[in-house]
Amino acid sequence: MSQRGVIQHYQQYLPITARTPVLTLGEGDTPLVRANALSRALDCDVYLKLEGCNPTGSFKDRGMVVAMAKAAEQGARAVICASTGNTSASAAAYATRAGLKCIVLIPSGQIARGKLAQAFVYGARVLAIDGNFDRALELTRELGEAHNLAIVNSINPFRLEGQKTAAFEIVDDLTRAPDILALPVGNAGNITAYWKGFNEYARLKNIALPQMWGFQAAGAAPLVGGAPVPNPHTIATAIKIGNPASWAGAIRARDESGGLIDAVTDEEIGAAYAFLAAREGIFCEPASAASVAGLLKKQREGKLARGKTIVCALTGNGLKDPEFALASDARIETLPATGDALRRALDL
Ligand code: F0G
Repeated sequence: MSQRGVIQHYQQYLPITARTPVLTLGEGDTPLVRANALSRALDCDVYLKLEGCNPTGSFKDRGMVVAMAKAAEQGARAVICASTGNTSASAAAYATRAGLKCIVLIPSGQIARGKLAQAFVYGARVLAIDGNFDRALELTRELGEAHNLAIVNSINPFRLEGQKTAAFEIVDDLTRAPDILALPVGNAGNITAYWKGFNEYARLKNIALPQMWGFQAAGAAPLVGGAPVPNPHTIATAIKIGNPASWAGAIRARDESGGLIDAVTDEEIGAAYAFLAAREGIFCEPASAASVAGLLKKQREGKLARGKTIVCALTGNGLKDPEFALASDARIETLPATGDALRRALDL
């Protein structure tokens, strides 16, 4: 039994009591892989934190396991969340694990197919609303508070507690914090959690803090524009959010770290996504590629100094969104089932 999971591994840093069930699906302890091609392109030392290797394929599992264990400890009868897809997949899996019912509110028609499949198969009650993520989150708050349903969005502080463990792992792997932590920003829970994690570890281990570089999609960049976006749009559906719940946390992370939050276009996201797959052998979902798109943009602008140690959080697995993958570059050749036909096609 090598896989301990986030609760057991990090219990001393988490609000765990003797009554908290030790749930796990084997989350956390994800690979930190050096990105050789990207390091050359940026003239920096770049590592990718592969959060798509978590049990449901995204970083959400780190926080969800803690939120779900606390919901069970506190006797919740059911949990509820709004989601652009990954939170719902994770909530559905961990609710099953904890023996709780799970209700999921999603913006109709705006969720990647793989994520939708997960929520259904794990047994959640999935309700699509005729509105966007921000509206779904408002409704989640309304129902959760009125009907004693535990809300497992990142407004639940236990979510952020679990998610901060990604920062611990990065420091343990590098034996220091990176100079820059780059990540996509949607509802802004993750940037808030990483900053909390680095700060807690810095106090314990006497390490320097990284700059936090967050990237939003240009059509859904309220933190860059400084005002909520009523009708956000982007190909990166995971971060199609116009009014982030952890707004203040994101601004604090940016300002206290001397970092930045900038926007990247859908074209830049698509190019970074293709670069990661074709040049690094890493298949992440479009939203995750926003972090790499942002770094490439900053380098083009001359705002990324050479020689920095950088970690990019690749937040979700590319398999979650097969439609995006196939729509962007589907060139499948169909051939007669003969060796000759294959030899001709391959110039052998
Ligand atoms: N990357 C992926 C793959 C995501 O699913 C999300 C958020 C983010 C980045 C942004 O993280 O919200 O903490 O700033 N997905 C949420 C969801 C909103 O419902 O699955 P954030």
